[in-house]
Amino acid sequence: MANERKPLEIKIERTSVKKEKPDYSKLGFGRFFTDHMFLWNYTEGKGWHDARIVPYENISLDPAAMVFHYGQEMFEGLKAYKTADGKIQLFRPQKNIERMNKTNERLCIPQVDPDETLDAIKAVVEVDSDWVPSEVGTSLYIRPFIIATEPHLGVSPSKTYIFCIILSPVGAYYAEGINPVKIYVEDEYVRAVKGGIGFAKAGGNYAASLRSQKKAYELGYSQVLWLDGVHRKYVDEVGTMNVFFVIGDEVCTPALGGSLLPGVTRDSALALLKSWGYKVSERLISIDEIKEAYKNGELKEVFGTGTAAVISPVGVLAEGDYKMIINNNEIGPISQKLYDNLTGIQWGTVEDTMGWIVPVM
Ligand code: COI
Repeated sequence: MANERKPLEIKIERTSVKKEKPDYSKLGFGRFFTDHMFLWNYTEGKGWHDARIVPYENISLDPAAMVFHYGQEMFEGLKAYKTADGKIQLFRPQKNIERMNKTNERLCIPQVDPDETLDAIKAVVEVDSDWVPSEVGTSLYIRPFIIATEPHLGVSPSKTYIFCIILSPVGAYYAEGINPVKIYVEDEYVRAVKGGIGFAKAGGNYAASLRSQKKAYELGYSQVLWLDGVHRKYVDEVGTMNVFFVIGDEVCTPALGGSLLPGVTRDSALALLKSWGYKVSERLISIDEIKEAYKNGELKEVFGTGTAAVISPVGVLAEGDYKMIINNNEIGPISQKLYDNLTGIQWGTVEDTMGWIVPVM
Protein backbone atom coordinates (compact mmCIF):
# COMPACT_ATOMS: atom_id res chain seq x y z
CA MET A 1 0.00 0.00 0.00
CA ALA A 2 1.32 3.46 -0.95
CA ASN A 3 1.00 5.15 2.45
CA GLU A 4 1.97 2.29 4.71
CA ARG A 5 4.39 3.40 7.41
CA LYS A 6 7.79 1.79 7.62
CA PRO A 7 8.23 0.45 11.18
CA LEU A 8 11.17 1.72 13.22
CA GLU A 9 14.28 -0.25 12.32
CA ILE A 10 15.63 -1.73 15.55
CA LYS A 11 18.85 -3.73 15.75
CA ILE A 12 18.51 -6.50 18.31
CA GLU A 13 21.46 -7.92 20.25
CA ARG A 14 20.28 -10.68 22.57
CA THR A 15 22.01 -11.47 25.84
CA SER A 16 23.97 -14.72 26.08
CA VAL A 17 23.41 -14.91 29.86
CA LYS A 18 19.83 -14.70 31.06
CA LYS A 19 19.19 -13.47 34.60
CA GLU A 20 17.43 -15.60 37.17
CA LYS A 21 13.77 -14.57 37.49
CA PRO A 22 12.65 -13.16 40.85
CA ASP A 23 9.94 -14.70 43.00
CA TYR A 24 6.87 -13.20 41.29
CA SER A 25 4.85 -13.43 44.50
CA LYS A 26 7.24 -11.00 46.22
CA LEU A 27 7.99 -8.40 43.57
CA GLY A 28 7.24 -5.09 45.27
CA PHE A 29 7.79 -2.18 42.90
CA GLY A 30 10.75 -1.44 40.63
CA ARG A 31 13.47 -3.59 42.18
CA PHE A 32 14.05 -6.16 39.41
CA PHE A 33 15.02 -5.49 35.79
CA THR A 34 14.75 -7.68 32.72
CA ASP A 35 17.47 -9.00 30.38
CA HIS A 36 17.33 -6.24 27.76
CA MET A 37 16.79 -2.54 27.25
CA PHE A 38 16.03 -0.27 24.31
CA LEU A 39 18.39 2.58 23.35
CA TRP A 40 18.01 5.38 20.81
CA ASN A 41 20.42 8.28 20.31
CA TYR A 42 19.63 11.82 19.29
CA THR A 43 22.13 14.18 17.72
CA GLU A 44 21.25 17.72 16.69
CA GLY A 45 21.15 17.92 12.90
CA LYS A 46 20.71 14.15 12.57
CA GLY A 47 17.64 13.42 14.66
CA TRP A 48 16.95 10.12 16.47
CA HIS A 49 19.22 7.35 15.23
CA ASP A 50 20.63 3.90 16.03
CA ALA A 51 17.54 2.36 17.61
CA ARG A 52 18.66 -0.86 19.25
CA ILE A 53 17.79 -3.45 21.87
CA VAL A 54 20.82 -4.59 23.83
CA PRO A 55 21.49 -6.63 26.98
CA TYR A 56 20.57 -4.65 30.13
CA GLU A 57 23.78 -2.93 31.21
CA ASN A 58 25.26 0.25 32.69
CA ILE A 59 25.17 3.40 30.59
CA SER A 60 28.50 5.20 30.37
CA LEU A 61 28.29 9.02 30.32
CA ASP A 62 30.73 11.92 30.38
CA PRO A 63 30.71 13.46 33.90
CA ALA A 64 29.90 16.77 32.20
CA ALA A 65 26.74 15.29 30.61
CA MET A 66 24.11 17.98 31.12
CA VAL A 67 21.62 15.67 32.82
CA PHE A 68 23.95 15.51 35.84
CA HIS A 69 24.05 19.28 36.23
CA TYR A 70 20.77 20.78 35.13
CA GLY A 71 18.42 17.81 35.31
CA GLN A 72 17.27 17.86 31.69
CA GLU A 73 15.46 14.53 31.93
CA MET A 74 11.99 13.12 31.41
CA PHE A 75 10.36 9.75 32.06
CA GLU A 76 7.12 7.87 31.51
CA GLY A 77 5.50 4.87 33.14
CA LEU A 78 3.14 2.33 31.59
CA LYS A 79 2.52 -1.38 31.94
CA ALA A 80 2.28 -4.61 29.94
CA TYR A 81 -0.13 -7.31 31.14
CA LYS A 82 -0.35 -11.04 30.47
CA THR A 83 -3.87 -12.38 29.85
CA ALA A 84 -5.10 -15.82 30.91
CA ASP A 85 -4.58 -17.12 27.34
CA GLY A 86 -0.95 -15.95 27.33
CA LYS A 87 -1.36 -12.77 25.24
CA ILE A 88 0.64 -9.69 26.19
CA GLN A 89 -1.04 -6.31 25.99
CA LEU A 90 -0.48 -2.63 26.75
CA PHE A 91 -2.94 -0.18 28.27
CA ARG A 92 -3.38 3.13 26.36
CA PRO A 93 0.31 3.51 25.43
CA GLN A 94 -0.55 6.31 22.98
CA LYS A 95 -1.60 8.49 25.96
CA ASN A 96 1.81 8.07 27.58
CA ILE A 97 3.57 8.87 24.31
CA GLU A 98 1.40 11.96 23.83
CA ARG A 99 2.28 13.13 27.37
CA MET A 100 5.92 12.30 26.69
CA ASN A 101 6.01 14.83 23.87
CA LYS A 102 4.29 17.46 26.05
CA THR A 103 6.98 16.96 28.68
CA ASN A 104 9.67 17.06 25.99
CA GLU A 105 8.31 20.32 24.66
CA ARG A 106 8.41 21.93 28.12
CA LEU A 107 11.95 20.71 28.82
CA CYS A 108 13.37 21.51 25.34
CA ILE A 109 13.95 17.80 24.67
CA PRO A 110 13.37 16.83 21.01
CA GLN A 111 10.01 15.31 20.09
CA VAL A 112 9.76 11.59 19.44
CA ASP A 113 7.70 10.06 16.64
CA PRO A 114 4.64 8.50 18.38
CA ASP A 115 4.40 5.50 16.04
CA GLU A 116 8.12 4.74 16.23
CA THR A 117 8.05 5.09 20.02
CA LEU A 118 5.21 2.57 20.17
CA ASP A 119 7.26 0.27 17.88
CA ALA A 120 10.13 0.54 20.36
CA ILE A 121 7.95 -0.21 23.39
CA LYS A 122 6.36 -3.24 21.72
CA ALA A 123 9.71 -4.55 20.47
CA VAL A 124 11.48 -4.47 23.83
CA VAL A 125 8.46 -5.97 25.62
CA GLU A 126 8.36 -8.74 23.01
CA VAL A 127 12.09 -9.50 23.41
CA ASP A 128 11.61 -9.78 27.20
CA SER A 129 8.12 -11.30 27.03
CA ASP A 130 9.19 -14.14 29.34
CA TRP A 131 9.44 -11.46 32.08
CA VAL A 132 5.76 -10.45 31.99
CA PRO A 133 4.39 -11.97 35.20
CA SER A 134 0.94 -13.53 35.34
CA GLU A 135 0.40 -13.71 39.12
CA VAL A 136 -2.64 -11.78 40.41
CA GLY A 137 -1.84 -8.08 40.79
CA THR A 138 1.42 -8.20 38.82
CA SER A 139 2.49 -6.64 35.51
CA LEU A 140 5.58 -5.55 33.61
CA TYR A 141 6.26 -1.88 34.33
CA ILE A 142 7.71 -0.07 31.32
CA ARG A 143 9.92 2.92 32.05
CA PRO A 144 10.89 5.00 29.01
CA PHE A 145 13.17 7.95 29.82
CA ILE A 146 15.30 10.51 28.00
CA ILE A 147 18.47 12.13 29.34
CA ALA A 148 20.59 15.02 28.09
CA THR A 149 24.07 13.71 27.31
CA GLU A 150 26.02 16.61 25.82
CA PRO A 151 29.16 17.35 27.88
CA HIS A 152 28.69 21.08 28.49
CA LEU A 153 28.41 23.21 31.63
CA GLY A 154 26.60 26.13 30.01
CA VAL A 155 22.88 26.27 30.80
CA SER A 156 21.19 25.51 27.48
CA PRO A 157 19.32 22.58 25.91
CA SER A 158 21.62 19.66 25.20
CA LYS A 159 22.48 18.87 21.58
CA THR A 160 22.53 15.10 22.24
CA TYR A 161 20.23 12.70 24.14
CA ILE A 162 19.72 9.05 24.95
CA PHE A 163 16.22 7.58 24.97
CA CYS A 164 16.16 4.37 26.98
CA ILE A 165 13.39 1.92 27.87
CA ILE A 166 13.87 -0.42 30.81
CA LEU A 167 11.39 -3.01 32.08
CA SER A 168 10.60 -4.16 35.58
CA PRO A 169 8.20 -6.91 36.70
CA VAL A 170 6.14 -5.35 39.50
CA GLY A 171 3.50 -6.04 42.10
CA ALA A 172 1.69 -3.37 44.12
CA TYR A 173 3.35 0.06 44.46
CA TYR A 174 2.29 0.46 48.08
CA ALA A 175 3.04 -2.13 50.72
CA GLU A 176 -0.67 -1.77 51.60
CA GLY A 177 -1.66 -3.19 48.15
CA ILE A 178 -5.35 -2.43 47.58
CA ASN A 179 -5.82 -1.70 51.30
CA PRO A 180 -6.31 1.97 52.23
CA VAL A 181 -3.23 4.20 52.58
CA LYS A 182 -2.67 7.03 55.03
CA ILE A 183 -2.07 10.46 53.51
CA TYR A 184 -0.76 13.60 55.12
CA VAL A 185 -1.71 17.11 53.87
CA GLU A 186 1.57 18.93 53.19
CA ASP A 187 1.46 22.43 54.67
CA GLU A 188 5.16 23.36 54.52
CA TYR A 189 6.48 22.56 51.03
CA VAL A 190 4.85 22.89 47.60
CA ARG A 191 5.24 20.68 44.55
CA ALA A 192 4.40 22.96 41.66
CA VAL A 193 2.91 26.24 40.52
CA LYS A 194 1.15 27.09 37.27
CA GLY A 195 3.73 27.94 34.61
CA GLY A 196 6.24 25.56 36.20
CA ILE A 197 6.74 21.89 35.31
CA GLY A 198 4.07 20.30 37.52
CA PHE A 199 2.19 18.88 34.52
CA ALA A 200 5.35 17.32 33.10
CA LYS A 201 6.75 13.89 33.87
CA ALA A 202 10.14 15.26 34.87
CA GLY A 203 12.45 13.67 37.42
CA GLY A 204 12.90 17.11 39.04
CA ASN A 205 9.27 17.08 40.23
CA TYR A 206 9.95 13.89 42.14
CA ALA A 207 13.30 15.09 43.53
CA ALA A 208 11.47 18.12 44.91
CA SER A 209 8.91 15.84 46.58
CA LEU A 210 11.38 13.69 48.52
CA ARG A 211 11.71 15.97 51.55
CA SER A 212 7.95 15.88 52.12
CA GLN A 213 7.79 12.17 51.41
CA LYS A 214 10.43 11.62 54.12
CA LYS A 215 8.49 13.78 56.54
CA ALA A 216 5.30 11.85 55.77
CA TYR A 217 7.04 8.51 56.48
CA GLU A 218 8.44 9.83 59.75
CA LEU A 219 4.92 10.80 60.78
CA GLY A 220 3.58 7.35 59.82
CA TYR A 221 1.98 8.20 56.44
CA SER A 222 2.51 6.67 52.98
CA GLN A 223 2.30 9.84 50.88
CA VAL A 224 1.54 13.54 51.01
CA LEU A 225 -1.41 15.42 49.56
CA TRP A 226 -0.11 18.49 47.75
CA LEU A 227 -1.98 21.78 47.91
CA ASP A 228 -1.63 24.46 45.23
CA GLY A 229 1.57 26.48 45.52
CA VAL A 230 -0.05 29.94 45.54
CA HIS A 231 -3.02 29.88 47.93
CA ARG A 232 -1.97 26.70 49.77
CA LYS A 233 -5.63 25.92 49.77
CA TYR A 234 -6.68 23.90 46.70
CA VAL A 235 -5.88 20.21 46.29
CA ASP A 236 -3.43 19.35 43.47
CA GLU A 237 -2.44 15.68 43.72
CA VAL A 238 -0.89 13.01 45.94
CA GLY A 239 2.84 12.08 45.81
CA THR A 240 2.67 9.53 42.99
CA MET A 241 -0.99 9.69 41.99
CA ASN A 242 -3.94 11.90 41.10
CA VAL A 243 -6.67 12.12 43.71
CA PHE A 244 -10.48 11.72 43.65
CA PHE A 245 -13.10 12.52 46.31
CA VAL A 246 -16.63 11.19 46.58
CA ILE A 247 -18.66 14.00 48.18
CA GLY A 248 -22.34 13.14 48.50
CA ASP A 249 -23.34 11.85 45.05
CA GLU A 250 -20.52 13.67 43.21
CA VAL A 251 -17.17 12.15 42.25
CA CYS A 252 -14.71 15.02 41.84
CA THR A 253 -11.03 15.45 41.08
CA PRO A 254 -8.88 18.58 40.76
CA ALA A 255 -9.08 20.14 37.28
CA LEU A 256 -5.90 20.07 35.20
CA GLY A 257 -4.47 23.56 35.23
CA GLY A 258 -0.74 23.15 34.65
CA SER A 259 0.36 22.25 38.15
CA LEU A 260 -0.77 18.65 38.26
CA LEU A 261 -0.01 15.57 36.24
CA PRO A 262 -2.54 14.62 33.53
CA GLY A 263 -2.63 10.98 34.60
CA VAL A 264 -3.63 8.24 32.16
CA THR A 265 -5.35 6.35 34.99
CA ARG A 266 -7.06 9.60 36.05
CA ASP A 267 -8.40 10.02 32.51
CA SER A 268 -9.49 6.38 32.38
CA ALA A 269 -11.25 6.60 35.77
CA LEU A 270 -13.13 9.72 34.63
CA ALA A 271 -14.20 7.98 31.40
CA LEU A 272 -15.38 4.83 33.22
CA LEU A 273 -17.26 6.80 35.90
CA LYS A 274 -19.02 8.89 33.24
CA SER A 275 -19.91 5.76 31.25
CA TRP A 276 -21.54 4.31 34.40
CA GLY A 277 -23.64 7.46 34.86
CA TYR A 278 -21.92 8.96 37.93
CA LYS A 279 -22.00 12.70 38.47
CA VAL A 280 -18.35 13.49 37.76
CA SER A 281 -16.54 16.82 37.92
CA GLU A 282 -13.08 18.23 37.40
CA ARG A 283 -12.88 21.42 39.44
CA LEU A 284 -11.19 23.41 42.19
CA ILE A 285 -11.44 21.50 45.46
CA SER A 286 -10.27 23.24 48.61
CA ILE A 287 -9.02 21.37 51.65
CA ASP A 288 -11.60 23.34 53.69
CA GLU A 289 -14.37 21.88 51.50
CA ILE A 290 -13.02 18.39 52.18
CA LYS A 291 -12.95 18.98 55.94
CA GLU A 292 -16.46 20.46 55.84
CA ALA A 293 -17.76 17.49 53.84
CA TYR A 294 -16.12 15.15 56.37
CA LYS A 295 -17.73 16.93 59.31
CA ASN A 296 -21.14 16.72 57.58
CA GLY A 297 -20.73 13.02 56.84
CA GLU A 298 -20.68 13.75 53.09
CA LEU A 299 -17.10 12.62 52.39
CA LYS A 300 -17.76 9.04 51.33
CA GLU A 301 -14.52 7.97 49.62
CA VAL A 302 -11.07 9.25 48.74
CA PHE A 303 -8.82 7.38 46.30
CA GLY A 304 -5.71 7.91 44.25
CA THR A 305 -5.17 6.88 40.62
CA GLY A 306 -1.87 6.18 38.89
CA THR A 307 -0.14 3.69 36.63
CA ALA A 308 2.03 2.44 39.46
CA ALA A 309 -0.61 2.86 42.18
CA VAL A 310 -3.60 1.73 40.00
CA ILE A 311 -6.59 2.65 42.26
CA SER A 312 -5.45 3.24 45.79
CA PRO A 313 -8.06 3.96 48.47
CA VAL A 314 -7.17 6.53 51.13
CA GLY A 315 -8.21 5.45 54.62
CA VAL A 316 -6.76 8.31 56.64
CA LEU A 317 -6.34 11.90 55.49
CA ALA A 318 -4.62 14.09 58.08
CA GLU A 319 -4.08 17.82 58.17
CA GLY A 320 -1.83 18.57 61.13
CA ASP A 321 -3.49 16.94 64.12
CA TYR A 322 -6.88 16.76 62.41
CA LYS A 323 -7.46 13.21 61.19
CA MET A 324 -10.22 12.21 58.81
CA ILE A 325 -10.98 8.48 58.78
CA ILE A 326 -12.52 7.77 55.40
CA ASN A 327 -15.17 5.06 54.94
CA ASN A 328 -14.15 3.44 58.20
CA ASN A 329 -10.63 2.93 56.74
CA GLU A 330 -12.01 0.44 54.23
CA ILE A 331 -12.08 0.44 50.45
CA GLY A 332 -15.32 2.07 49.25
CA PRO A 333 -17.72 0.75 46.59
CA ILE A 334 -16.69 3.22 43.87
CA SER A 335 -12.95 2.64 44.40
CA GLN A 336 -13.56 -1.13 44.33
CA LYS A 337 -15.67 -0.95 41.16
CA LEU A 338 -13.03 1.16 39.42
CA TYR A 339 -10.23 -1.15 40.54
CA ASP A 340 -12.09 -4.27 39.39
CA ASN A 341 -13.02 -2.87 36.00
CA LEU A 342 -9.77 -1.13 35.22
CA THR A 343 -7.60 -4.09 36.16
CA GLY A 344 -10.14 -6.40 34.48
CA ILE A 345 -9.67 -4.53 31.19
CA GLN A 346 -5.89 -4.55 31.67
CA TRP A 347 -5.70 -8.28 32.41
CA GLY A 348 -8.28 -9.12 29.75
CA THR A 349 -11.05 -10.42 32.04
CA VAL A 350 -13.41 -7.47 31.40
CA GLU A 351 -14.40 -6.49 27.86
CA ASP A 352 -12.48 -3.48 26.56
CA THR A 353 -15.42 -1.45 25.25
CA MET A 354 -13.31 1.74 25.26
CA GLY A 355 -10.69 0.46 22.79
CA TRP A 356 -7.86 1.01 25.30
CA ILE A 357 -5.94 -2.23 24.81
CA VAL A 358 -3.02 -2.49 22.39
CA PRO A 359 -1.75 -6.02 21.77
CA VAL A 360 2.00 -6.72 21.77
CA MET A 361 1.89 -10.39 20.83
C1 COI B 1 3.61 5.95 37.57
O1 COI B 1 2.54 5.83 38.15
O2 COI B 1 3.88 5.34 36.54
C2 COI B 1 4.62 6.88 38.06
O3 COI B 1 5.39 7.33 37.25
C3 COI B 1 4.70 7.15 39.47
C4 COI B 1 6.03 6.86 39.96
C5 COI B 1 6.94 7.97 40.11
C6 COI B 1 6.36 5.57 40.50
